[in-house]
Amino acid sequence: MAEVVIVENAEAAGALVAREIVQLIERRPDTVLGLATGSTPLPVYQALRSELAGRDVSQVRGFALDEYVGIDPHHPESYRSVITREVVEPLGLDPQRIHVPNGAQATIQHAGEDYEAAIEAAGGVDLQILGIGTDGHIGFNEPGSSFASRTRVKTLTEQTREDNARFFDSIDDVPMHCITQGLGTILKARHLVLLAFGEGKAEAVAGAVEGPLSALLPGSAIQLHPHATVVVDEAAASRL
Ligand code: GLP
Repeated sequence: MAEVVIVENAEAAGALVAREIVQLIERRPDTVLGLATGSTPLPVYQALRSELAGRDVSQVRGFALDEYVGIDPHHPESYRSVITREVVEPLGLDPQRIHVPNGAQATIQHAGEDYEAAIEAAGGVDLQILGIGTDGHIGFNEPGSSFASRTRVKTLTEQTREDNARFFDSIDDVPMHCITQGLGTILKARHLVLLAFGEGKAEAVAGAVEGPLSALLPGSAIQLHPHATVVVDEAAASRL
């Protein structure tokens, strides 16, 4: 079973995970981080600002989980822009070493394979940060995703498009498709760290940690991983 760590609040979770990341980078300057978007990992990135200040991070590498398909990479809500704004720039990482799946229509046929090859060439992800959707999705692996899936194009559910509409002018502007690392890709990372805060995530967290292994709750895939840590506040742990 995944190790569950209950912390006081999101800030404490951010500090805890940031310290773990710093230790990794101290051991291996070219550590490969698995980066997630959404509001949940923000406290980790925030804590890393001070933890990494003054350290040499020029070798650190990173792979984001997912991207919208057909969005202009310069759109402020493309995951490329979000990762640049929240992670690359404030932490002073080398943008050449931080990868986001390519959601451009023209190359989408082979974008999944290309991304898998890039992760493989980097030697795999050392620590994968994960959030979880209220329906149990991780990355953009919505309910029904295969545990063996690799980076591929998926259709966003209506629920996820509604949840993410807050970042766009209207729901009509939320892309219909995404490209996401598969559950099988995520499971290959050497350490999974899933974070969740607030009552709204309690059901998904309980399903992921204690529920039956089910494609209907993609987060339950973490039970197949030998080194998964779940960092939650009391509210998100309330159904455990
Ligand atoms: C999006 C992202 C997921 C994220 C989820 C939850 O759909 N693709 O990676 O885990 O939202 O978002 P939040 O952390 O804002 O609750």
